[in-house]
Amino acid sequence: MTTQDDVPPLDICGLPYPHDPARYCTRRSGHRPRHLHQTARSEQWVVKPRGVLYLVACAAPPAADLATPIRGAQELGWDVCVIVTPSVHRWATEDPDSGIDLDALAELTGYPVRHTYKLPSEPDLLPSPDALLVAPMTNNTVNKWAAGVSDTLALGLITEAIGLDRPIIALPHFNRAQAAHPAVNASVATLRGAGVNVLLGEGGFVPHEPRTSDRHAYPWLAALAALPTLPAERD
Ligand SMILES: Cc1cc2nc3c(=O)[nH]c(=O)nc-3n(C[C@H](O)[C@H](O)[C@H](O)COP(=O)(O)O)c2cc1C
Repeated sequence: MTTQDDVPPLDICGLPYPHDPARYCTRRSGHRPRHLHQTARSEQWVVKPRGVLYLVACAAPPAADLATPIRGAQELGWDVCVIVTPSVHRWATEDPDSGIDLDALAELTGYPVRHTYKLPSEPDLLPSPDALLVAPMTNNTVNKWAAGVSDTLALGLITEAIGLDRPIIALPHFNRAQAAHPAVNASVATLRGAGVNVLLGEGGFVPHEPRTSDRHAYPWLAALAALPTLPAERD
């Protein structure tokens, strides 16, 4: 008979997962995230659902790698929904070399990838979020978010999430010159003051020199490790 001690530690993105699997594994019963069958490593044990995670992606090169945090979050028990900014949607639909396949992301998550507000008469297509990860976060979005602008679905969701007290992790991706603009420092301080966990600096994203971006060095694991560990309380 399989016991909890027999369950091998899960890993995320190929790296060892540091937590005790006993904290998030349970027997296969009751509610489970819709992609659990893809992520469970055993017939006997499945990942305990943590809730719904919104992955909000802005137009920076790591947007081509969204499958990495999606799979990692699913392994941690999150049901993941992807929301992209209109710029990401344009990259995905107009640039055949963008490497962003929105249909593949919808297939991976089981939810449509949203980039615009619904019409007033349309139903909500996504469940409400228990936590949000904004990554990659551009300097454009960090400044608009801190100013409370909500003229895109992505901004509307993350501005509202602050007031709803949802846990929010933000992992920037911008170069040292962009980061040097005084608005960026002020925006990061504003968001941190509002409770957003902005992973800027050592242990998170450290801005690179202009034209030296390496999307493969983007610290997705830092964002996944910062996600809340307990099932979120729903309203
Ligand atoms: C090829 C390319 C790479 C870019 N990389 C970045 C980046 O790493 N960080 C950033 O803040 N902006 C970057 N930008 C600029 C943003 O895409 C631009 O500011 C856009 O308006 C951001 O919109 P969004 O924040 O709504 O996604 C890049 C633009 C292009 C065309």
